[in-house]
Amino acid sequence: ATSIPADDRVPDMEKRKLMNLLLLGAISLPTGFMLVPYAAFFVPPGVVSIRIPTLVISPFSDSEFYDALGNDVIADQWLKVHGPGDRTLTQGLKGDPTYLVVENDRTLATYGINAVCTHLGCVVPWNAAENKFICPCHGSQYNNQGKVVRGPAPLSLALAHADVDDGKVLFVPWVETDFRTGEDPWWA
Ligand code: FES
Repeated sequence: ATSIPADDRVPDMEKRKLMNLLLLGAISLPTGFMLVPYAAFFVPPGVVSIRIPTLVISPFSDSEFYDALGNDVIADQWLKVHGPGDRTLTQGLKGDPTYLVVENDRTLATYGINAVCTHLGCVVPWNAAENKFICPCHGSQYNNQGKVVRGPAPLSLALAHADVDDGKVLFVPWVETDFRTGEDPWWA
């Protein structure tokens, strides 16, 4: 009988080991998962607590305020980076994207503008060249304070108070008259 050259046998052996490993993984992974409820069946209730991560839909309470990355917004630092007329998206009430506005005198506006279009809910970008918020979805336009100036959006962008507390910016629900229209706020 002709013997197989050693060079050819080695890769075969390696391949077989690899296949065995893969097979072992394929069996043990699902089996491991299956054993969890099986083992849990024998453990008296109360001895082991399994924490199931819950889905957090809105981690933002009504008065918290974060920048787009979820960090606190420190008013002084913000104003060093954001010049007059700046409108930058931050995370507002209930996680709604909300513009923090820098006034022309380099102070923070006392209101934030909710960026959710009142037509069908697209996030409306700020267009500095046009001095307007222009919705990319169906072309609604809002002036630089978020007051609707062109449809199909039926209403102005919602407001929130932007208060500074201990150096940090906080959004607080706006329930008073809408200063842009003189009307009751539709969002409150
Ligand atoms: Fe903004 Fe339709 S969602 S114009």
